[in-house]
Amino acid sequence: MKMQKVVLLLLATIMLFGVQSRAIDVIPKPVKMVETGKEFTLTADVKILYSKGLAQHAELLEKALSPATGWDFEMTEASKAQKGSIFLNLVKDDEIAAEGYKLNVTPKGVEIQAVKEAGIFNGIQTLLQLLPVEVFDARRQKDVAWNIPGVEIADEPSYVWRGMMLDVSRYFYEKEYVLHLIDMMGMYKMNVLHLHLIDDAGWRLEIKKYPKLTSVGGFRGEGKDRIGGYYTQEDIKEIVAYAALRNVEIIPEVEVPAHTLAAIAAYPYLSCRGEQVKVQTQHSISRELYCVGKESTFEFLQDVFDEVFELFPSKYIHIGGDEARYDRWAKCPHCQARMKELGLKKEHELQVYFNRRMQKMVSKHGKVILGWDEIIEPGLTEKVVGMVWHNKKKAITGAEAGHDIVMALTGHCYFDVAESKIPGEVKAATWLPPISLEKTYMFNPMIEGLDAKYRSQILGGHGCLWTDQFIHGDKLPRIDPINENRAEQYLDYLTLPRMSALAETVWTPRSSQSWDDFENRMRSHYSRYDHAGYGYRVPQPKLIAKKEVDGGYEITVENVVDGAYVAYATDGIRANTYSKVYEGPVKVKRLNDFSAITVLNRRQFSLPLYFPAKYDQFKKYGKMVAEWRPKDIKGKEFGTFEMNATGKIDKNGEYELTFIYTGGNYRLDIAGVEIFKNGKKITEDIHEGHTGGSSSNNTYRFKVDAYETGAAFTVKAKVRGDLGKDSYGVVFIKRK
Ligand code: ACM
Ligand code: ZN
Repeated sequence: MKMQKVVLLLLATIMLFGVQSRAIDVIPKPVKMVETGKEFTLTADVKILYSKGLAQHAELLEKALSPATGWDFEMTEASKAQKGSIFLNLVKDDEIAAEGYKLNVTPKGVEIQAVKEAGIFNGIQTLLQLLPVEVFDARRQKDVAWNIPGVEIADEPSYVWRGMMLDVSRYFYEKEYVLHLIDMMGMYKMNVLHLHLIDDAGWRLEIKKYPKLTSVGGFRGEGKDRIGGYYTQEDIKEIVAYAALRNVEIIPEVEVPAHTLAAIAAYPYLSCRGEQVKVQTQHSISRELYCVGKESTFEFLQDVFDEVFELFPSKYIHIGGDEARYDRWAKCPHCQARMKELGLKKEHELQVYFNRRMQKMVSKHGKVILGWDEIIEPGLTEKVVGMVWHNKKKAITGAEAGHDIVMALTGHCYFDVAESKIPGEVKAATWLPPISLEKTYMFNPMIEGLDAKYRSQILGGHGCLWTDQFIHGDKLPRIDPINENRAEQYLDYLTLPRMSALAETVWTPRSSQSWDDFENRMRSHYSRYDHAGYGYRVPQPKLIAKKEVDGGYEITVENVVDGAYVAYATDGIRANTYSKVYEGPVKVKRLNDFSAITVLNRRQFSLPLYFPAKYDQFKKYGKMVAEWRPKDIKGKEFGTFEMNATGKIDKNGEYELTFIYTGGNYRLDIAGVEIFKNGKKITEDIHEGHTGGSSSNNTYRFKVDAYETGAAFTVKAKVRGDLGKDSYGVVFIKRK
């Protein structure tokens, strides 16, 4: 029987007999869950009851249920459950952990028990995921049976720290976006949002005593290119309160001593040389540091901290500490005098001294410093929290020295890195290999080499959303599958679905984690994002089998998104939304003739699943920029072959672009190449070359001297097949 017929039959059966139960697909997977088969149905007369002190949580739940159902639910403070109610019940129960909860759904009603507000919030999130996906919609949904499957859940997190970092310095995300990110985090029970408020490209926090930090340090560029912004202290209070109700703690990062150019631009006396500098408009790490020799630096920081601590109730303050290069300190008379006075030999020891001074200032306020793994050094007098990103050894030495550790590993948690290298993938950080959803899911904060006895010091995991590639966030290339080019959409796309995987790695016990099971539960989450208005990356179809058959291949794929289908092509052209609908295994002669995409609708689809041809033998020519096929060749006349070189042209320098024939009846004649930055021609190499049975002058040379992070680069070549279109080949690029 054809797949479609099976589906139709199944639909008919469902319509006749009604759906018995939906699969339960809560993420992160609860610790204990028993399905009773006895559901509860939400109707207009269901009451929301709540214990004393939980009025705001009742309201939060009411606001979550009301828009999609179209009903206003009555809310009443109560001390016990009633038939036909949802009861948010604060209890004393030694079995329930601080952020844990119990959730029972019976035909009589729903009860969430917790010992703290945090647990009530987490229980509400599970309840929302038990409801039909339409509940996430802000508009009234018609014809939905609001059934909640019968369950008994007892749940709590494995790790206390389930965090995200948002870099608002390189690109300023308005308060509304921060609130939106908090909503996305809440859905997955993530509980820490660390704001990277200060870096070379902008200072984002209003400090009343130093107004130039924001009036000068909060903006960059000139004239119509001037961009920036900052959070007022009122904005911060609003963000902190919004987050607190959603069990998210906001942690500010005030970087020292590097990544501080924006502050130095505002108050040059903070640096060693005291020279006037400008806020960075291109991405690079400035060599300017706060001067550690001048007391005025510490007076400034003390004043800043006094205001910061008034705004952020968190016990932690992140002081950065990463990537300091000490050239300025080495040449500064103040810093050198400080070294002499302290008997220090290396500038690096000055940073340890700096951190200790920070620690003293901070602990006066009863707070604890948190910093990137660089701060884990002998000499810290009190406990700190090390945020380990690149040096895993620091997790071990830090834990041994008694410090707490948060794992923000670049290999799993850096969501500014793209999920894949597939052509068409979003512009993202390129200095690390891709991090697929599965790779995020493989994250384990208990890294190899870390003794189990340190488990309690490993607080959890932390996803990082750096935004240096969005420094020109108002001029980004369009993301084709979602037809968007705003930096906000990029961030949604980079965050979801990977944050859901991260959430499960730090919530669900490791013994219950399973990639296959997670991937299955994810199927319905994309619909939740659609209803909630969250952007996300549509996953490609899943490859099930690839068998060799009679000189070719048989390929079986599966759709992994509810409500979507798979479209495929077998002619070497990438599948698009107009391609054939996949119904069963497909035979092809050459593997890279096949490609398939997940299609939600004409505007929302995935990148292709395909099998790239292996061109390892051409590695000496650099990185592949493009492949040409007969469809790219006009014929015997010269035509334009356009290549996307964004990410391949990645620095200023001299480049070599080489055309390499790989097959077909005709050689490729090349008349020259032109290079464009953001659509404007910047250089060219016009000379005749060809590649075929033999090749001659088939390398084109040019120099790029106005590279900009965020700029789109294209190469247009004038080419023809010497006698016709039948020509195949690849183009490689190398920086000398
Ligand atoms: C970092 O990525 N510099 C912490
Ligand atoms: Zn100095």
